[in-house]
Amino acid sequence: MSRTSSYAAATLPALIVLGFIVWFANWIPQTRWEPPKTRQITAAMSPSQLAGLGKAIVRERGCLACHTIEPGVGVKGHGRGPNLANIAARRVQGVPGGPGNLVEYLAQALYEPGAYLVEGYAGIMPSSVRAPAKLNYEEVTAAVAYLQSLGGKPTARVGDLPRPPAEAETARTTQGEGTAGATDPKDILTKFDCLTCHSLKPGEVLVGPPFETTLLKKAAAARGVTPEAYIMESIIDPRAVEVGDFPKETMPDDYGKRLTAAQIYALTRYLIEPEKKK
Ligand code: HEC
Ligand code: HEC
Repeated sequence: MSRTSSYAAATLPALIVLGFIVWFANWIPQTRWEPPKTRQITAAMSPSQLAGLGKAIVRERGCLACHTIEPGVGVKGHGRGPNLANIAARRVQGVPGGPGNLVEYLAQALYEPGAYLVEGYAGIMPSSVRAPAKLNYEEVTAAVAYLQSLGGKPTARVGDLPRPPAEAETARTTQGEGTAGATDPKDILTKFDCLTCHSLKPGEVLVGPPFETTLLKKAAAARGVTPEAYIMESIIDPRAVEVGDFPKETMPDDYGKRLTAAQIYALTRYLIEPEKKK
């Protein structure tokens, strides 16, 4: 998959590319699309068991589209959000003016990310109890236990965390969906030139793969993440997601900066629900 051969592939007759798609479509079912596992998370689980589940949850639900977990490179890391490595040590006393201990701070950071914005960052993180991550209370607990393990020792058990504040959900709903006009997915696809490279017609290859829900779900399953997380990652960090023989490094990699969080969710939802395409 060298860069030169990928560019060469771009110039090959469309038939060959089409042939690849057929092969790809036939090959991928081996990894069979399965809905993300609902994990049984119980009050009997130890904090370290929860941390293990939390690690998988953080990966599968799209957190790593924005966050890196890279020890030794500082808080800034390379993501759109803070580097989560060592967060337990860094936030052992919570934040000034906010929750004064790690567990409460982490719970709040997940429920209401805007409440205490980390300095130098914009309020782009969606509440983890809302789309696309949609963590339930037990999953938030597992994620918190995992974050505690990054630079510390997990202590959180099911029942220890406050429940998500109801008003946080409504606040995020208005913020996420209320930006009139700007979040119509069809407008975004046109305005940001997505459709010059991606067709909405199944099987039609322009420059990149067509937007087909089944293909997206299969690619997500092959990568071990939810379709929402996969689509979001493909938009924010297209270099991280390379799709078969399509030309690499062709998709602009600055959409993460040009699109608002609300626009990214609007696109994600739209691309995942074919019935809304008509
Ligand atoms: C769209 C990008 C984005 C996604 C997706 C995202 N975050 Fe964030 N996150 C941020 C940004 C930006 C900040 C810093 C601003 C703020 O505090 O909200 C942040 C802050 C945080 C903090 C506080 C960090 C600190 O240094 O105090 C935690 C913890 C966190 N995120 C965890 C998560 C988890 C867990 C998920 C997945 C369920 C997630 N984030 C998904 C962008 C994101
Ligand atoms: C200049 C061409 C180009 C533009 C413009 C473009 N893309 Fe892409 N995109 C690609 C290519 C090529 C790939 C596959 C290769 C790769 O993984 O980078 C891709 C991959 C993707 C994938 C993963 C698809 C799959 O089937 O796995 C998604 C999702 C995606 N793009 C969304 C978008 C969205 C949304 C926009 C507009 C905001 C956009 N792209 C704009 C070329 C483009």
